[in-house]
Amino acid sequence: MGKNAKYTGSDTEGGITSGYQMNDGVDIKVPYSFFGSIFDEDEEQAVLATMKQEAQTMGPQVAMFQKEFAEKFEVKHALATTSCTTAMHVATQVFGIKEGDEVIVTPNTFIATSLVILKEGAKPVYADIDPKTFNIDPKEIEKKITNKTKAIYIVHYAGQICDMDPIMEIAKKHNLYVMEDCAHAHGAKYKGRMAGSIGDIGCFSFHSLKNMTTLGEGGMITTNNDKFIDMVQRMRVMSITNWPPEQNSFEFGGFKMEKKELDYWLPSHFNVVDDGGKWGNNYRMNETQAAVGRAQLRKLDMMIDKRREFSHYLSDGIKGIKGIIPVYEDPNCHHAYHLYTLCINEKDLGASRNDFMRVLYQEEGIQGIQHYQPTYHLTGVKEKYNYPDKLCPNAEKFFYACETNLPMNPQLTREDLDTMIQGIKNAAEKVRS
Ligand SMILES: Cc1ncc(COP(=O)(O)O)c(C=O)c1O
Repeated sequence: MGKNAKYTGSDTEGGITSGYQMNDGVDIKVPYSFFGSIFDEDEEQAVLATMKQEAQTMGPQVAMFQKEFAEKFEVKHALATTSCTTAMHVATQVFGIKEGDEVIVTPNTFIATSLVILKEGAKPVYADIDPKTFNIDPKEIEKKITNKTKAIYIVHYAGQICDMDPIMEIAKKHNLYVMEDCAHAHGAKYKGRMAGSIGDIGCFSFHSLKNMTTLGEGGMITTNNDKFIDMVQRMRVMSITNWPPEQNSFEFGGFKMEKKELDYWLPSHFNVVDDGGKWGNNYRMNETQAAVGRAQLRKLDMMIDKRREFSHYLSDGIKGIKGIIPVYEDPNCHHAYHLYTLCINEKDLGASRNDFMRVLYQEEGIQGIQHYQPTYHLTGVKEKYNYPDKLCPNAEKFFYACETNLPMNPQLTREDLDTMIQGIKNAAEKVRS
């Protein structure tokens, strides 16, 4: 999306999930773009070629995308869906999570991570975050376990992986599933292991903002566990199963037939079963999205390298400005820099974050965004379980009260980065005086 593009959150169907512009006359020098990737002739060719195929959904492109994704992300299985939200919904169904269950989850995430727990009638139980990485803190997880806990849902915030070793140990000790929400973490690693390859199930997003996209929407489930595969397949494709080929006779609504009579009829018919009360959905990815996803996979390393290089350049450029805290990088992680998170220490800055953000935006033309307000603040969630206001003090104090996300995507130029560095310096100077 170009710098002067007139997209707004308010005049798009998707609101803040589609774009972010205020239309308030401010001369924006570095916008917060809602396109986090790079498209070129590869994606164009992929779209055109796929339009000529017979299969337009769940065909050869999806099969190849899944295979290539599994190879790249070092997992046994990858299964495409329509989004990360639907991938996480499938995971929640496959884990058998139901009313009365509890799922421990980070508050520092998009609503989707809690939404899938709520959809299945279970209770999100929020565990506080580590004040440096902004990821769920394993020690806080342990405190929240009860005999109702069934799973731990974590988010690799901004592209930095959670401290997975202790999390997996806790899960093993208490017999809990771990779902990795990898919406920010394509290309991120923890002690050399890929995001989405460590927990029971990983869920990826290909929304337009993300590190790679399948034409604006899309998702992927990853797992090393063979036992989940059949149910994932049923939950993403309407509970559909095949009639077992080894069966010799069949009864359909009173008609009994021998298998040998059904040579033509049988392959074109399917059966539907529920899975312990869980019913399937239509979460199928289409062929064009998958073909674009394959092209994006080939660029992923290059795009992550750019995000890392740009983020390090930014961090170096703003080092030492009093009251401005660049991103902390955990030495155990290969940070994918889906987001660049800047924190403001109001005391050291001598001004409020709001003042700083206002000047940065209105006078310096740099658009920031806030990801995220703790999920338990959101009215529907809060009212459902009556969560108290300051439920997770670290998420409130060291994150929500002080952070902002600066523009970060692989299309930024050196000029954009220098404008951001200078703009941050100027804004800090102005609000201080
Ligand atoms: C942490 C996190 N989880 C889940 C999602 C949902 O992804 P999708 O839009 O693909 O459903 C997002 C998207 O913004 C996200 O940031």
